[in-house]
Amino acid sequence: MSNRENFTSTFGIIAAAAGSAVGLGNIWRFPYVAGQNGGGAFLIIYILIVLILGVPLLMSEMMIGRRAQANVIGSFKKLGPKSSIIIGIIGLLAAFLILAFYSTVGGWTIHYIYASINGEVFHTDYQNYFFNFKDNSFLPLLWQIVFLVLTAVIILGGVKKGIEKCSKIMIPTLVLMLIILVIRAVTLPGAGSGVNFFMKPDFSKVTGTTFLAAMGQAFFSLSIGMGAMLTYGSYIQKNENLNFISTSTAITDIMVAILGGLVIFPTLFSFNAAPDQGPGLIFVTLPAIFEQMPWGAGFSTIFFVLLLIASISSSISLLEVIVAVLKEELRWSRTLSTILTTISVIILGVFATLSWNTFQNIFLTTASGNKMYIFDIFDYLSSNILLPLGGLLIMIYVGWYLKKDIFYEELSSGVHKKFTLALRPIIFFIVKYISPIVILLIFLNGIGVF
Ligand code: TRP
Repeated sequence: MSNRENFTSTFGIIAAAAGSAVGLGNIWRFPYVAGQNGGGAFLIIYILIVLILGVPLLMSEMMIGRRAQANVIGSFKKLGPKSSIIIGIIGLLAAFLILAFYSTVGGWTIHYIYASINGEVFHTDYQNYFFNFKDNSFLPLLWQIVFLVLTAVIILGGVKKGIEKCSKIMIPTLVLMLIILVIRAVTLPGAGSGVNFFMKPDFSKVTGTTFLAAMGQAFFSLSIGMGAMLTYGSYIQKNENLNFISTSTAITDIMVAILGGLVIFPTLFSFNAAPDQGPGLIFVTLPAIFEQMPWGAGFSTIFFVLLLIASISSSISLLEVIVAVLKEELRWSRTLSTILTTISVIILGVFATLSWNTFQNIFLTTASGNKMYIFDIFDYLSSNILLPLGGLLIMIYVGWYLKKDIFYEELSSGVHKKFTLALRPIIFFIVKYISPIVILLIFLNGIGVF
């Protein structure tokens, strides 16, 4: 155990954890899911769920990793029982699947930086431009490989010099760029109606599915349910305060989602674009809008650089889950583990990226008649099945197997305030009873039982 790497400062830990949480989920997925679910009302429900359910989940994952001082497989091996290793296997599977399609979108982002700088994304039929790029060329594959190699280079640097150091630079840069964009967006003519849509709750649009959509979004956005936070937790030293770390991570995640919304909605409303058009939203709509703004190419470049930073600081947390397992369980070097993992992810990722190209004939048809290509199947399998299942098992594991003593102990280290200590029974109650029930509901919804 002695030569395990650790994060070196509280700020470094929070930067890494917030870097994992803040990603495409906040800036690309959150605005369009909020747009489809009534804007302001969704925002309030989402914030409540992150604080009440997300934070205890975040704590639970971190405490397993820190307790065991091991990766997602090794932790369950050490803490037992043997059967709990299944949680690690689910986590590994989810890491591969999420990386495969996350890197597709990461690759699109790099292309859009390039296309913003040389201007080819402007003064064109932007919809055609996106679909031609995505469906009829092999460029997305090239950019996906670039994205994964960038991710791998950081992971090769290790926990301290790779993950922690880069996150400490990336997170402040990201917040700064976001603030520049927010100022631009809210000062556009007609921006007020966008701010209104996003901030003014309309509870008449809230139904059962709104809650479930908000919970699913919270889960994906906080990176919980597959051991990414467990792996990062294993690099957190004993004297650090997990209450503070998990709360700061969640608050950063919420803030970036709000700032992201304050960029997207005012911009959309200012140019009369619909807020509910789904996943194509930023790649199709935003370039068209940037084109009409003064300094548009500059803002477009800043936007996609921001998206790239956010997605790389998330993809490193996914890659590290697998690398840590190979390194510690098979005793491979970090270099060999990273190279082999990256090659495997690239191979799997080809199927996601060429979903609408070479593999366009492979799809499932949903009950509502929509086609689910390989990309969508990877997304569905991981977000709607593996994450809720993994999260459910982790909560049951912590609440019913690890027990109160360990839970209380882990939430006491580094804590000096009586108030924080007094919260422990409430958090434990949520972990043991409330969370499993709630996660089960998301899961049943995800697989279409309701
Ligand atoms: N949370 C990231 C986002 O919002 C994505 C992500 C990174 C993730 N690591 C994860 C999602 C682990 C689930 C599990 O974009």
